[in-house]
Amino acid sequence: MRQVHNATALAVAFFFSAAAGAADPNLCAACHGDGGNSTNPAVPSLAQQPAQFISTSLFMFREGNRKDDQMTPMAKPLKNPEMNELAAYFSQQKASAPAHKSKPESVEAGAALAKKYNCSQCHGPKMLGQQHIPRIAGQHYEYLRAQLKAFKAQTRADIDGNMTSAIQAVPPADLETLADYLAGLAPN
Ligand code: HEC
Ligand code: HEC
Repeated sequence: MRQVHNATALAVAFFFSAAAGAADPNLCAACHGDGGNSTNPAVPSLAQQPAQFISTSLFMFREGNRKDDQMTPMAKPLKNPEMNELAAYFSQQKASAPAHKSKPESVEAGAALAKKYNCSQCHGPKMLGQQHIPRIAGQHYEYLRAQLKAFKAQTRADIDGNMTSAIQAVPPADLETLADYLAGLAPN
């Protein structure tokens, strides 16, 4: 019994010290929304992203491999354990249903393209991501579209180069269809 109480006290102390520091998820809500469900189409939702993807992304922003005027300064002060805490927190939040409705013609065409270009091999059959690979189902349309173009133009860095090479074979028109398809998929 005493041990349980001690563990709870420790957890509480840890929570409050974490909440006061750079790892406070409330600092992220201004842009990424409550519980990581972003309402800004240019800002990605973090809810239900694989924890490993969130921490590697934060690491890349901090180290300057991935750059963004808004996000880079947020990642700069974070220490590795804080990144892991934030990653654990957001991976456990439930993603909201997407606001985006895919065009009817993109639904079938998008599914076929995702097979053709092996998107589902890495991102998973339902595009929910795994390990260092993000969930792209139900992510914001505008954000997905911008990122796909950036990978193709090689202006967005990725952890192992796999995403950049995967997108090179995909023509611009198919990127549009894929973004429209993915943004309308259920995120869980
Ligand atoms: C001032 C706005 C702002 C704040 C505050 C902010 N972010 Fe971001 N974040 C962004 C933007 C914009 C992007 C997309 C950058 C891009 O286009 O590559 C982003 C991207 C990310 C990504 C990459 C997600 C993906 O799907 O690729 C992660 C992870 C992330 N932010 C985590 C956080 C965490 C954790 C916090 C709080 C400590 C935070 N952000 C605070 C604006 C913000
Ligand atoms: C060989 C594995 C692989 C394949 C194939 C692949 N991806 Fe990815 N994808 C990744 C990885 C890994 C990342 C994370 C990159 C990073 O930021 O480090 C990623 C990131 C992304 C992102 C960025 C999401 C975000 O939240 O920032 C989008 C969008 C995406 N992939 C879409 C696609 C589409 C569409 C296809 C098919 C045309 C595809 N991917 C094929 C591995 C893959």
